[in-house]
Amino acid sequence: MMSKAISKTELPLKLYKSGKVREIFELDAEHLLLVASDRLSAFDYVMHPPIPFKGIVLTKISRFWFEHFSKVPNHIVSFSVDNIPQLKPYKELLKDRVMLVRKSKVIPFEFIFRGYLFGSLFESYEKGEVKDLPKGMKKGAELKSPLFTPTTKAEKGHDLPCTVSDIEKSVGKEVARYVIENSLKCYNEARKKALERNLILADTKFEWGMSKGETILIDEILTPDSSRYWDATQYKNGVLEQFDKQVVRDWLIKSGWDRQSEPPELPPHIVEQTQARYIELLNRLTGEKL
Ligand SMILES: Nc1ncnc2c1ncn2[C@@H]1O[C@H](COP(=O)(O)OP(=O)(O)OP(=O)(O)O)[C@@H](O)[C@H]1O
Ligand SMILES: [Mg+2]
Repeated sequence: MMSKAISKTELPLKLYKSGKVREIFELDAEHLLLVASDRLSAFDYVMHPPIPFKGIVLTKISRFWFEHFSKVPNHIVSFSVDNIPQLKPYKELLKDRVMLVRKSKVIPFEFIFRGYLFGSLFESYEKGEVKDLPKGMKKGAELKSPLFTPTTKAEKGHDLPCTVSDIEKSVGKEVARYVIENSLKCYNEARKKALERNLILADTKFEWGMSKGETILIDEILTPDSSRYWDATQYKNGVLEQFDKQVVRDWLIKSGWDRQSEPPELPPHIVEQTQARYIELLNRLTGEKL
C-alpha cells in the first residue's frame, strides 16, 4: 500500500510535548491536541522509517474503544478539529489522527494487565523472578486470572516495575483502587469483545490522569501500540499470529541490536508487514477498511 508517512507534525499551536509517537499541542489552558504520527517505537526507541497509516489506525482503534467504554470517565472531547479556525489549512493532514482532550495531570504509572505469559513477563518468569505463577508454564500460556504488572512512567529512560503500594503512596489508596479496578474491568470487557472478533487481547496498558479532581482514563487505549493482539484460531493451533509491533520487536532481537544505541533502520519488508498487521487489526475490530 502506498502513501507518504507522517513522521512529525508542525502546527501553529504551542507544542506541549513531543512523545515517541505523538505531538501534543496546547490548545488552551484546559485542552490538549494529541496528533498521532506514523512513528513506531520499540524497546523505548523510535524506529526509522515510520509506518504509513499507523497513526490513523491507532486513532481509529482508540476511538472505537473510547466509544465502547463511554461510561468510564475519560479525557476525550472530540476526534475532530474542523471547528478550530486556525487548523483549517491542516484539515486533511489531521483527519483521523487527532484527539482533542482534557489536559490532565498524568498519574505517573502504567496500568498493565496481562492475560498470557508473554513478553517481559515471560522473560522474568524464565529467570525465576515471578513468584505468583505455577512452575513449568509455556511461553504464551493463558494465565488463570489477569496479572497486574504496573510500571513507573519514567521521564527519561526505561519504565521500571513497581508495586501497588508505590501507586498508593503516590495517589492515595482510594484513587489507586479506582484506577486498578477500572483498568481490570476494561481489560476483561475488551478481551471478551475482541474474542467475538476472533482476536485474543493478550495484554494491555492504560494511563490515567487527574482533571479538576476527577480521575479520568487518558492517552490512547487498547491500540496495537499499547496492547498485544493475537489471532485466536492460530493461537489454538499453537502459532502466535500477532497484530501489533511484535514483528518489529522480533526483527530487532534477531538483528543483534543492543537496545542501548541507535536502532538499525527497518527494512522495507518489515515496514510492509507491520503496516499490514495494523491495518488488518483495524478491519477485524471495527470492520473498517483503509
Ligand atoms: N489527557 C492527557 N493529559 C495530559 N497528558 C496526556 C493526556 N493523554 C495522554 N497524555 C500524554 O501524552 C503523551 C502521548 O504521546 P505518545 O504516545 O507519543 O507518548 P509516549 O512516547 O508513549 O510517551 P511517554 O513515554 O511519555 O508515555 C503521553 O506522555 C501521555 O502520558
Ligand atoms: Mg504512548
